[in-house]
Amino acid sequence: MYLVTGATGSVGKRIVRRLRDRDLPVRAFVRLSSSYAELEQRGAEIFIGDLAQERDIRKACRDVRYIISAHGSDGGQAQAIDYRANIDLMDFGQENRVEQFVYVSVLGTDRGYQDSPVFKAKREVENALQKSELTYTILRPSGFASNLLPLAERFRDTGLYFAIGDLKNRSSILSPDDLAEIAIQATQREAARNQIFAVGGPEILNRDDIPKIFGRVFQKDPFVVNLPLSVLDGVRSAVGFINPELQRSLGTLRILLANEFFCTSEEIHRLESVFDIQMESLESFLRRYLVNS
Ligand SMILES: NC(=O)c1ccc[n+]([C@@H]2O[C@H](COP(=O)([O-])OP(=O)(O)OC[C@H]3O[C@@H](n4cnc5c(N)ncnc54)[C@H](OP(=O)(O)O)[C@@H]3O)[C@@H](O)[C@H]2O)c1
Repeated sequence: MYLVTGATGSVGKRIVRRLRDRDLPVRAFVRLSSSYAELEQRGAEIFIGDLAQERDIRKACRDVRYIISAHGSDGGQAQAIDYRANIDLMDFGQENRVEQFVYVSVLGTDRGYQDSPVFKAKREVENALQKSELTYTILRPSGFASNLLPLAERFRDTGLYFAIGDLKNRSSILSPDDLAEIAIQATQREAARNQIFAVGGPEILNRDDIPKIFGRVFQKDPFVVNLPLSVLDGVRSAVGFINPELQRSLGTLRILLANEFFCTSEEIHRLESVFDIQMESLESFLRRYLVNS
């Protein structure tokens, strides 16, 4: 039995779908408020719980062979959900002698970003996992192509593309379908045991390549509106007076916008050979979801 947390999220739902496509048993950890009907229809066992509750995690881990931790937190929940829930999953996973723990982290956790509770939590979880007795695979993904779907749809309608920060910053935008496949494969491949992988798309893109790709996909000339990072800094300082929690969450966004998150060609080569996969480009992903669907 696979336990998948974040089973209704961008990558989690893709993991559950793929496991069910292969007829593998999967327990999908979902909140009562989540949209989980599709997972149920595909034959996943639905476990309704809250990752903030240790007793729910304890129950969910019973008779589980693999754990894939693919959840993320809503604003202000980094300590409880990104950190504590993963520590609980590890503890109960160990108690239940799970064969493998696959953890979806984030690219850049090793850079010591202090301004983001999410990056800090993920770094701590990675450390704890490496020190534990569990067999683990840590996946450090770059930004998901699915995040760009709403921007692409707006572009299709208006030709407009909004970007904050340096347009020359590089990223390796990743298909969450590929990440889902890798997360599953990690439980089945010897070479993935006790390993950390940077996971990204096959090409290193400057941010101003993105509107060009949109332009090609929709055959439209892009009109780019580029705002400086100082705009976000202004918003952050202003909200800090009334909502310090939101200010901290915006700290993560600032780190994502101000820094580069890309994988080297060696890292992609290692991924493709260990997992026997060809990583999908952003253009192919967009065509698959918005043109050929
Ligand atoms: N998105 C990216 O570009 C990106 C890039 C790098 C790394 N990552 C990491 O990849 C992981 C997955 O990201 P994602 O974008 O797929 O996540 P997502 O779409 O934001 O989904 C988050 C998932 O976590 C669940 N969740 C949140 N709080 C919960 C709670 N208290 N109890 C139970 N479930 C809870 C959500 O359930 P509901 O449906 O009920 O909200 C949802 O299924 C995260 O760890 C994220 O940090 C993401």
